[in-house]
Amino acid sequence: RGGAAGTDAPLTFQPVEQNQLDELVIPAGYSSTVVLRWGDPVEEGSPEFRIDAQTPEAQAKQFGYNCDFIGWLPLDDDNALLVVNHEYTDEQLMFAGVADEEGAGDITDEQKRIAMMAHGISVVQVRRVGRTGQWRPTPERDRNRRITTETEFELTGPAAGSEYLRTSADPEGRTVRGTLNNCAGGITPWGTTLHGEENFNQYFGASAPITDALQLAALERYGVSAEDAPTRRWETADPRFDLAEEPNEVNRFGWVVELDPYDPTSTPKKRTALGRFKHEGANIQIDRDGRVVAYSGDDERFDYIYKFVSKRRYRKGEGRRTREHNMTLLEDGDLYVARFTGDSPAAEIDGSGALPSDGEFDGTGTWVPLVEDGRSTIPGKDVAWVLTFTRLAADRLGKRLDDNGDPVLDAAGDEIVDDPSKVPTKMDRPEDIQVNPVNGRVYAALTNNSRRGTEGQPGADEANPLTRSHAFSEGEEGAEASYGEQPGNNNGHVIEWEETGSAGGTGFSWRIFLLAGDPERPETYFAGYDKSQVSAISCPDNLEFDPAGNLWISTDGNVLSTRNQEAGTTGLVGTNDGLFAVPTAGPERGHLKAFLTVPIGAECSGPMIPADGRSVFVSVQHPGETTGSTVETPSSTWPEHRAEGGFPRPSVAVVFRHDGQRLGV
Ligand code: FEO
Ligand code: CA
Ligand code: CA
Ligand code: CA
Repeated sequence: RGGAAGTDAPLTFQPVEQNQLDELVIPAGYSSTVVLRWGDPVEEGSPEFRIDAQTPEAQAKQFGYNCDFIGWLPLDDDNALLVVNHEYTDEQLMFAGVADEEGAGDITDEQKRIAMMAHGISVVQVRRVGRTGQWRPTPERDRNRRITTETEFELTGPAAGSEYLRTSADPEGRTVRGTLNNCAGGITPWGTTLHGEENFNQYFGASAPITDALQLAALERYGVSAEDAPTRRWETADPRFDLAEEPNEVNRFGWVVELDPYDPTSTPKKRTALGRFKHEGANIQIDRDGRVVAYSGDDERFDYIYKFVSKRRYRKGEGRRTREHNMTLLEDGDLYVARFTGDSPAAEIDGSGALPSDGEFDGTGTWVPLVEDGRSTIPGKDVAWVLTFTRLAADRLGKRLDDNGDPVLDAAGDEIVDDPSKVPTKMDRPEDIQVNPVNGRVYAALTNNSRRGTEGQPGADEANPLTRSHAFSEGEEGAEASYGEQPGNNNGHVIEWEETGSAGGTGFSWRIFLLAGDPERPETYFAGYDKSQVSAISCPDNLEFDPAGNLWISTDGNVLSTRNQEAGTTGLVGTNDGLFAVPTAGPERGHLKAFLTVPIGAECSGPMIPADGRSVFVSVQHPGETTGSTVETPSSTWPEHRAEGGFPRPSVAVVFRHDGQRLGV
């Protein structure tokens, strides 16, 4: 593994410059091609895409919108399956006549049904071109598959069949139609893919006021509006999205999905044992005793990082019965939530990013159980409740509870903490979590948190140490753009930890790897590397490792201004998102370099480096998603750049070296 590159070798490419081009910008010596665009035929019998002739039936066979996680599963040396999430839809860039993002209420029911079919997952067979790192879809489509909001899923694990998951269409509480808002994901050692259901809250509305206090509390904690608010209002096209009609349908989303892409007829599973929250994704490592450990972040300001540990053990081998066994591992196990404790005095963590006197933001941590030996750790609440309302359960840890398992309040109306050592740490929006295949450490992206340290909100702690940081702001309408220090952690950070003893254990030690931002600004940190040598980075989101153990980081929501432009000067602009690479060991640790940037309005997601290290696939998600950008007046026309009637198409691209060698070496 490593080979000539080793883990200490510098990355050789010349970093790309910050820019606002409507292009995929890559380093010299590399090529890129678009592999799959929104609307490209996926399943047998799919019509060719036409933006003016969309139907739900056509979209159900075509590549969906807003590609995100990319899985790569080998068939043989030169053939593989790409498994791609379609997180959400931008109706203003899909359909003519939709004003802007706020115009979602004007979407017709037929357009909503098209949008539903543009959600989900695609499985597409791809083939290597010659002996290069380039891949393209095969003409054969018999292994291809689209999963949409109509595909049947099976609920598995302790919450399946519980009272919280039963609906009028599914009185057993075991079968769900569809998956929603699939963001990041992972690949298991037994060749299945995992898909996080993230911001599922936005799809539900209510035709009548919700009055049940318990229902309201759960909806509020998950950010589901209990009013007929201007969300996507899918309830007008499908009544199961009406909270007043089907109060439990919303509980059937927010899970981790496991899919067997090798079997196009398989029923995908929702793994309730991993808990329900806004799962960014899920990634696995195997403990040395064979238990499977799955990490998952809950992407919300001040939410938590979780770890699942399986009851049964992983079996090595390729046989059918071995694989069948491994495909049950995520059905049953224990669930933990992370508490990070700093080792420096609290007074030294002042929110500015200044390093404490021991020279690092670091410390130890514990995994606090929510489900332990198959039993709930919340007195008065059963396992099915803990798994279905995991956020509410995690909030109760360490608190004084009444006989129903609900918090007891003090005279001032605050919850009483009896055991602070069990209270999980509120993080700056946990995104992707990945295990480094070379050093075994775990890395989590914390994308940003503009509210850290603001009025009435938690302040800095050693694991989330920024309460102010530089950011670019367009300003309100008519106001001048500005770039300067603003409240909160605006550029995000990356944290690194090592499990104590074994992966399935309950202790760990951690340190901050990166405090993102412009390296010229004082609050940034690049694992102690010389900041004059690194690229600016903002809002880390998805993580990937190459075979040498270098960390690849894609970004979403870059709030930097282009270099050398200060507030108040004319022509102040932002910069596009991109993909960055950074060694994690040796003298080059922290030497982060920008590898590519994505077109205007897009985020970069899903970086996927196949085992041979010769390619990186990226999702160019929501190109052209900027204020006022529509089908008629798009800010991006990537990738086709048609002179007449151009519009953006979210696409998967692959980047590879001219000489066919490994990336970065
Ligand atoms: Fe869909 Fe948390 O990014
Ligand atoms: Ca410290
Ligand atoms: Ca993401
Ligand atoms: Ca994101």
